[in-house]
Amino acid sequence: MEILNGKVVSQHIKEEIKKEVDQYKLAGKRAPHLVAILVGDDPASQAYVASKVKTCGEIGFESTLVRYEADIEEKILLEKIIACNADKDIDGILVQLPLPKHISENKVIETISPAKDVDGFHPSNQGKMMLGLPTFIPATPYGILLMLQHYGIKTSGMHAVVIGRSNIVGTPMSLLLSRNAEPGNCTVTICHSKTKNLKEICLQADMVVAAIGKANFVTADMVKPGAIIIDVGINRITSTETKSGYKLTGDVDFTAVSEKASYITPVPGGVGLMTICGLMKNTLLAYQNQCNKS
Ligand code: GUN
Repeated sequence: MEILNGKVVSQHIKEEIKKEVDQYKLAGKRAPHLVAILVGDDPASQAYVASKVKTCGEIGFESTLVRYEADIEEKILLEKIIACNADKDIDGILVQLPLPKHISENKVIETISPAKDVDGFHPSNQGKMMLGLPTFIPATPYGILLMLQHYGIKTSGMHAVVIGRSNIVGTPMSLLLSRNAEPGNCTVTICHSKTKNLKEICLQADMVVAAIGKANFVTADMVKPGAIIIDVGINRITSTETKSGYKLTGDVDFTAVSEKASYITPVPGGVGLMTICGLMKNTLLAYQNQCNKS
């Protein structure tokens, strides 16, 4: 069994991006600029956004963190996005999800200019992705593809089982794995909360992508020997082992499943770090597109 090490791969990708950014700066150009918008004080969202902002600093991007109270009016948020859309010095905009119930996530996503939608959530970018046209690929599936690529894992012909059908991970991941591309060319089964015989389906998988948001959901008895296991889950569970009183765990029972898998991503230190790389690569692309226009 080999660990798919998000720390090593993300470090490598961040260094590559930084080199490119340094070249732009040497040529007298401004840095790529990401705006991250956080509404409310959900601890997980705060931690994700803080990591994104920190990574921008490490690779030479400019970043702006915009914070609003949880009870902010939807109109104020939409106006801020419209102002960011119009600002030529901003390349990428992300609004951390989930948002408070009184704000329409769809409206927010549709307000972000598709050219600055570095999360790849805008319907126009999702449509382009479906058609295989160049666009921003949602950061988590993108990060997983980068991870598979880095390890030279050839997925062609594999049966991939994706557990979870969210717009952010499961749905785009299943589409990308089925495309005529490498990584890709998989036969894909999407499983979700209503799937019958989940265990039997998982046992047929050459690759399992677990994105269901339930701690230790994928157990060793669901995994075929030699399968590749990609764990997208980042679940906070209470723990007596840590000072904070909680620890992060994935959707996969890592200890038992790692004994059967050929490759497996750990949590933390796996897909989460790759998601940030996907976002940074999208922001660099948005910057390059914007610079080529002006
Ligand atoms: N919430 C969970 N994952 C993501 C992501 O990739 N982007 C944004 N904006 N919010 C998220």
